Amino acid sequence: KQLKKVTTALAISAAFSFSAFAADPIVIKFSHVVANETPKGQGALMFQKLVDERLAGKVKVEVYPNSSLYGDGKEMEALLLNNVQMLAPSLAKFDKYTPKIQLFDLPFLFDDIKAVERFEQSEAGKSLLTSMEDKGITGLGYWNNDLKQLSANKELIEPKDARGLKFRVQASEVLDAQFKALRAVPRKMAFGEMYQALQTGTVNGAENPYSNIYSQKVHEVQKFITESNHGLLSYMVIVNTKFWNSIPEDIRAELSAILDEVSVEVNKKSHELNLSDKQKIIDAGTTKIITLTPEQREAWREVMRPVWKQFEGQIGADLIQAAEASNK
Ligand code: LMR
Repeated sequence: KQLKKVTTALAISAAFSFSAFAADPIVIKFSHVVANETPKGQGALMFQKLVDERLAGKVKVEVYPNSSLYGDGKEMEALLLNNVQMLAPSLAKFDKYTPKIQLFDLPFLFDDIKAVERFEQSEAGKSLLTSMEDKGITGLGYWNNDLKQLSANKELIEPKDARGLKFRVQASEVLDAQFKALRAVPRKMAFGEMYQALQTGTVNGAENPYSNIYSQKVHEVQKFITESNHGLLSYMVIVNTKFWNSIPEDIRAELSAILDEVSVEVNKKSHELNLSDKQKIIDAGTTKIITLTPEQREAWREVMRPVWKQFEGQIGADLIQAAEASNK
């Protein structure tokens, strides 16, 4: 009788642990601040879909777009507390964790998005992915959005046109310095607050790639966009290092492989997606897009370029050189 009791207890506990296993996949909350229709939004959804297909029952990805779970002021803290497990913050938002990543915000560093990709795949680029592990952050890959354009309620053709205007910037010292170099007034502000700040006139302008301009309806509150391509908006997909290392090795390897596949796809499509959003802005008829002559663009470069020297010490001259070498 005693034996029967024990076997029943064992059977129950086995059933329990089995059902606990079956019912409890590893949950990866992926929080971000942009719309689903953007390169990052699409990447997060594709990651979710592939994990669903290939790791069903083992891992579940929950995507929270549009700052619906955390805004960009809070998401990094939330990752470190393991309240979310995956993010893809803009590279402008890492200066607290490693000053080297400020590299990506230097104005007029990359000639085009192809050069950006070359740098990201280089040894120097890849080394930045693991540069924050002592802080509890592991980078899994880069997702590019596109080069940024300047928007304002005033025509910006020469650098002096920006003087005195207030621009919303991401929380980055480099971007702050970039607008100060123009003698404009930078205002650091969360992405989710940008639309209203532009609408109410708290700020007069901003800088974004076309996909963020269109999906945030920035074009409805900005009369002009200067196609300056003056800087980069790219992301690092990051996970909480402790959480990541706690995942069984076989599952982690599959997740890494999926992420690599998604990164290739995002980076293949992001420029095209931005061009199509540019066309939608043109079609909306709300905003004039200003194309600069090479000489006009050069004038912006000259005014912004001293920012490089200001940050060279923090970033490292060798890293800057490695990035420049990707422009070929
Ligand atoms: C911004 O704050 O402008 C961007 O970082 C938003 C984003 O994630 O694309």
